[in-house]
Amino acid sequence: MNTIKEQKLKSLSLQKNSNKGFLWGVATSAFQLEGSPYADWATWDSILTLNPKVTNHYELYKEDIKLIKELGLNAYRFSIEWSRIQPTEDTWNESVVQHYQKIIDLLNDYGITPMVTLHHFTHPVWFITRYPWHKKGCIEKFIKYIDKLTDSIKEVDYFITFNEPYLLIMGGYIEGCIPPGYKDFELGIKALKNILLCHSQIYDLIHSKNKNSQISIAHNMAVFTPWIKWNPFDRVLTKIAKRFYNQSIIEGFLNGKIIIKLLTLKAYEIDAPIKGKLDFFGINYYTRIHMRFNPFKKLFIEFRHRDIDGHGLTDMGWEIYPKGLKKVLRYASKLQIPLIITENGIATKDDNKKMKFIKAHVDVIESAIKEGIDVRGYFYWSLIDNYEWLHGLDARFGLYKVDFKNYRRIPTKAASFYSHIIKSRNFSTGKNE
Ligand code: FCB
Repeated sequence: MNTIKEQKLKSLSLQKNSNKGFLWGVATSAFQLEGSPYADWATWDSILTLNPKVTNHYELYKEDIKLIKELGLNAYRFSIEWSRIQPTEDTWNESVVQHYQKIIDLLNDYGITPMVTLHHFTHPVWFITRYPWHKKGCIEKFIKYIDKLTDSIKEVDYFITFNEPYLLIMGGYIEGCIPPGYKDFELGIKALKNILLCHSQIYDLIHSKNKNSQISIAHNMAVFTPWIKWNPFDRVLTKIAKRFYNQSIIEGFLNGKIIIKLLTLKAYEIDAPIKGKLDFFGINYYTRIHMRFNPFKKLFIEFRHRDIDGHGLTDMGWEIYPKGLKKVLRYASKLQIPLIITENGIATKDDNKKMKFIKAHVDVIESAIKEGIDVRGYFYWSLIDNYEWLHGLDARFGLYKVDFKNYRRIPTKAASFYSHIIKSRNFSTGKNE
């Protein structure tokens, strides 16, 4: 900023984008839209070697952001792909940083509040092979990157440090189905601790650079229920899942300690310096999971879905359970900070089903706000169809359908429907004023 006039303009645009009203947005992640040849995921799933540019958003970003504008949204959550900025250890590609800055500038010009996710599952290959999250050096490398990145990136207040850290640990360290592909619970606990240490350091770091910043993680929450109501084993599993998956991190933010107790007798206690290190709480909510005790499964746990309430299943087989959003919001409100639904969406080729899904979840938010829960935003996942982790290109979450052969974006009926919902609901009541 050079002149006083420019500074005033800047502060005006920040006010325009500040958290006064409800944030109506869409969420995406860089890798799922644009791939990256330097990321661990690039070769993890063969579909990506056939479609390395995925939706080609890296080149078509202007067109896509225009879609957000046309929908009348006032917020956009997206991520910055670390592996493009540091394709090899200790290198730095500033032109990529400037590419993401252009996205931020365009959003601000349109009056759309940017929310930047700093880590959304992917890593540079060099990092995950030499410094995976359970090993020495990972914190230093990641913080160094974030420090330099946040020196460059301007005009953003909202940050998500990590997207779904528990999913990363479960997939990457327990199941071993996503990078780094370990199957070792103890390593997973170490990795989780390091990730939380990073969150804590990044929280302080960004706040020291930008007093207006609003920082959270995006925590995946689900409703858990026993597969058979009266079965004591299923009930125990349900309790454990709820505690571990939904609640333990919230307890961590409340008192700086995460206690993880699975079926084994040993309880893990993680001292995590994250107490109070949140300005809002980001919740990704999709479904209800039915817990079934199965002696032939790992840790005796089987996760199942079935349609009980008649809302149906998504194309990925997930149960549609809008009521559950209220349940997780109620629990998270324990944190006594604003809540933002940083992801919620449905994979379906049926436009009517997509519209019903959106309406049902927005209705739940409306009733949660009436109940006094401090909800400040809703981000539909996702703007356009994209790569879905381990599921390929056929999980159609987009408000816009993508033709992956020619990268054309085609509106679904849900696009104009979502646009209509935004205009017809007034969520500036409640605690948002
Ligand atoms: C969430 C992820 C997001 C997307 C949706 C469908 O768990 O955060 O990247 O894949 O699921």
